[in-house]
Amino acid sequence: MDKFVVEGSAKLSGDIQVQGSKNASLPILAATVLSSGTCVVRNVPDIWDVATLGRILAEVGMEVDGEDHTVTVSTSDPSKCVAPYDLVRKMRASFFLLGPLLARRGRARVSYPGGCVIGPRPVDLHLKGLRMLGAHIGLEHGYVAAEAEKLRGAEIYLGGPNGPTAGGTFNVMMAATLAEGTTVINGASCEPEVEELARFLNAMGAKVSGAGTHRIVIEGVQSLSGAEHTVMPDRMDAATLILAGAITRSSICVRGLVHDHLAAVVDKLEQVGVALERLPDGYRVLPVEKLSPADVTTQPYPGFQTDTQPLLCSLLVMADGISIVTERIFEERFTHVSEFARMGARIRTQGPSLIIQGVPELSGAPVMASDLRGGAALVLAGLAAKGITEINRVYHIDRGYDAIEQRLARLGAKISRRPA
Ligand code: EPZ
Repeated sequence: MDKFVVEGSAKLSGDIQVQGSKNASLPILAATVLSSGTCVVRNVPDIWDVATLGRILAEVGMEVDGEDHTVTVSTSDPSKCVAPYDLVRKMRASFFLLGPLLARRGRARVSYPGGCVIGPRPVDLHLKGLRMLGAHIGLEHGYVAAEAEKLRGAEIYLGGPNGPTAGGTFNVMMAATLAEGTTVINGASCEPEVEELARFLNAMGAKVSGAGTHRIVIEGVQSLSGAEHTVMPDRMDAATLILAGAITRSSICVRGLVHDHLAAVVDKLEQVGVALERLPDGYRVLPVEKLSPADVTTQPYPGFQTDTQPLLCSLLVMADGISIVTERIFEERFTHVSEFARMGARIRTQGPSLIIQGVPELSGAPVMASDLRGGAALVLAGLAAKGITEINRVYHIDRGYDAIEQRLARLGAKISRRPA
């Protein structure tokens, strides 16, 4: 297991390119199972979650070749329909294979994904939608076993207790592309990754309309061809890089992002006092004078994204006043709190909220990453802290960030990867 060693307070400078979207790449790669041809997916980030999904795709009879951020996929053995526990447990996004396997092959066995440190991660809405399309779904020995002679279009409400489900929308939308008749998904997720998946499905010949709104209409087709697609930028990577500039009070340019995807984040950062100059393909972060406190509640898109909550906290812990951060999507998404406290932050949980009393500076300390975005938040805190911060269990960060320490080092950050 590796760790990152960060020497804080270094000023950053220069330009940095945003990676391809993890949360768009994963459902798109799962969707290749639907195709009767060969798919070429470009700008895929070189991260563990993509590698894991590649191994699971091979387990379900797909030929997968990855080279320099491009993944080429085709079906080699359609008789293999089991996504095994030892791989699925590593990455819940493997559950996105259920819909495509059902639609293309009529059967699937996918290990029931566990929860994770950010809270229980139910899949009841995924199963509700697929059952409404006509699938017979049971739970056997920890696996979801699903069968369907032929899926049939249906009118499905997919809203959940905390709003829409991105994953559930992925699964049902993919399955509906090969169903007989028309499917309407009400209460669909509007996350940009849903729209991006629809673009890929339509490139394969699907008939999906309304993606990006709460009402998506899918007209079933007989089959889907191969397609080529370049994945959109990763909005969480972009937010992380912008925050790296802000937290070190540096001037850097973060390039290759979609401005609309960051509207809520930019709005909140400007409230905190971060000066951002809009560039044609990104933002220039200008040195921050004073950090002001801010209140934020996470919401479905276009609200403030839950994934960015831990990242913003790394800044608010040094703001001049009290901030209240409320997490409405994943109730336990607070693994960063105890680690920030080890660095001198004054932060405590109060039900679904964090109460943060800003301090003038953080002090470097050995800390532990427990999940992807919480781990990234510790890297950000380390960049700003006085002294040395060691972030252990960086495999959590490697799941979603493509060589983040190398990219930050290129901006002048004093960060290196060491064996733990
Ligand atoms: C996706 O997770 C993302 N992951 C998450 O990013 C992101 O935080 C989340 O969407 C919300 O935007 C990928 O795309 C791989 P959900 P997902 O289904 O699909 C509840 C990261 O850091 N729910 O949109 O698993 C659920 O408990 C990751 O990159 C049900 O109740 O999230 C949550 O409260 C973390 N029943 C809410 O819906 C269900 O069947 C949103 O979850 C499914 C979800």
